[in-house]
Amino acid sequence: MKLSAKRSPSVLCVALNPAIDQTIEVAGMRVGEVNRAQRAQQDAGGKGVNVASCLADHGVEVAVTGLLGRANAGLFEALFTTKQISNECVYLDGLTRINTKLVDPQKGETTDINLPGPQLSAAGMADCLRDILAVVERNAASLSWLVLSGSLPPGWPADTYATLIQQAHAYGMRVMVDTSGPALGAALLAGPDIIKPNRDELGAHLGRRLVTQEETAAAARELLDAQPMLSLIVVSMGHEGALFITREAVVHAHPLPVKPLSSVGAGDAMVAGIVAAQLEALNLPDCARLATAFAAGKLERLGAHLPDARRVRELALQVQLDNK
Ligand SMILES: Nc1ncnc2c1ncn2[C@@H]1O[C@H](COP(=O)(O)OP(=O)(O)OP(=O)(O)O)[C@@H](O)[C@H]1O
Ligand SMILES: [Mg+2]
Repeated sequence: MKLSAKRSPSVLCVALNPAIDQTIEVAGMRVGEVNRAQRAQQDAGGKGVNVASCLADHGVEVAVTGLLGRANAGLFEALFTTKQISNECVYLDGLTRINTKLVDPQKGETTDINLPGPQLSAAGMADCLRDILAVVERNAASLSWLVLSGSLPPGWPADTYATLIQQAHAYGMRVMVDTSGPALGAALLAGPDIIKPNRDELGAHLGRRLVTQEETAAAARELLDAQPMLSLIVVSMGHEGALFITREAVVHAHPLPVKPLSSVGAGDAMVAGIVAAQLEALNLPDCARLATAFAAGKLERLGAHLPDARRVRELALQVQLDNK
């Protein structure tokens, strides 16, 4: 294979609001004084990038588009090169936002300091969206899934995902959405094929607290009734696992008893697993098994990475399902 050969992605992940996750470990940190750090780590992250990272680990041909600040794009570019992810990002002047976690292992405290990303005018946002729509169009021949993950950057129109869904559907692609708040509300109006809210996000969308699994499944059924394009809703519930809800069935996938190294990106890994299952045309129980195995496999690792395919298959075989 020629290394320069352009790959043909079957999945395009949209990362409008990526971030560099920076962790700095300072034992006994004192505010307002000079502190000595023991360890620092920077990872390219953000939900869209995490989903692409897990799909690439599973051997799926995947591309990422979204907005990267030129000044610190190197970490993302290195990840994309290592995992053979096609880089279709739009570059902006300035920095991609950096989210810093100051971890104090002595006090068991974490302090978060989150920077804003590049600031854009309304015209700048419209230009970026046009560029991203052009990426969808350029890759339309090979793409079967568009994945829209995470929040919109501040100031972006709430119907941004809706515009992308319409374009993807016009090219015959299917669309997975994992977002919350007004962006989820607007996306639902455009009829995505699959959504993966967590229980709080689904409850917030419907304006009520969802406590039991029965209430949660009934809430998802309401959305399926209201939106004919939706074929599957996966509601993740952290350590309670996830509900996989179609018009015909409700499957509860119990979580696997893994020792979580880091809970960052468990939901993103689950999104990747659901899309991977669709590419393999798996039935609902096998989709629930694979998605849960992706989440568990990621939990065993520090960043948004999966263990090797054999371990993922092993985990999938251990997933317990209940029909509700
Ligand atoms: N503590 C845990 N133990 C085992 N499995 C877990 C645990 N937490 C999460 N999972 C697995 O990961 C899946 C997704 O987790 P969760 O519901 O927390 O996603 P989320 O809220 O969307 O997270 P994210 O912050 O990544 O968006 C769960 O359905 C479950 O299978
Ligand atoms: Mg989530």
